[in-house]
Amino acid sequence: MESATETQKQNKYRVSIDLLNEAVGREISASLQYMYFHTHFEDARYRYLSRIMREISIAEMRHIEEFSERILFLEGDVNMNPAYRTRQMTDVSEMLRLAMQLEQSTIDHYNEASRIASEHKDAVTHKMFQDIIAEEEQHLDTFRTELQNLHDYGEEYLALQSVAGSKHAAQSLHHSHGEE
Ligand SMILES: [Fe+2]
Ligand SMILES: [Fe+2]
Repeated sequence: MESATETQKQNKYRVSIDLLNEAVGREISASLQYMYFHTHFEDARYRYLSRIMREISIAEMRHIEEFSERILFLEGDVNMNPAYRTRQMTDVSEMLRLAMQLEQSTIDHYNEASRIASEHKDAVTHKMFQDIIAEEEQHLDTFRTELQNLHDYGEEYLALQSVAGSKHAAQSLHHSHGEE
């Protein structure tokens, strides 16, 4: 009888399992980083930023689940550890810029992972990466929009979030600036 380790060594999906495990590490790190941002935005009462960070943190958590289930289906085991440590920072533009960098780097990695999975004839892992890339692109777009609003409206934009949602805040600022 083969030991579990021998079975893993001979697993023809070894490459996919490694790609998926690398992705799990990235997702854990992103999820924790965004939850860290969420708590800071919540504390500062930046309601809209706080809400989107929480939502995206949970979205990354769901990605951990999807990738992990695939790893187990391929008879590998999950390396449930963060790829890197959560960074501490308090400047809002710096936070949004880091979030954008994380998403962009994840998109680049998953495009490559998707290609490699396809080369190794693992269509399901290939498609899983492609589907998740589409979600990461939405996250990137959300962070980019928020950074743009912050640049356009500055501190006013953050201050207004204590009393209204971001879109309303941006709209009211847009109107008042437009009338000048
Ligand atoms: Fe993700
Ligand atoms: Fe993401």
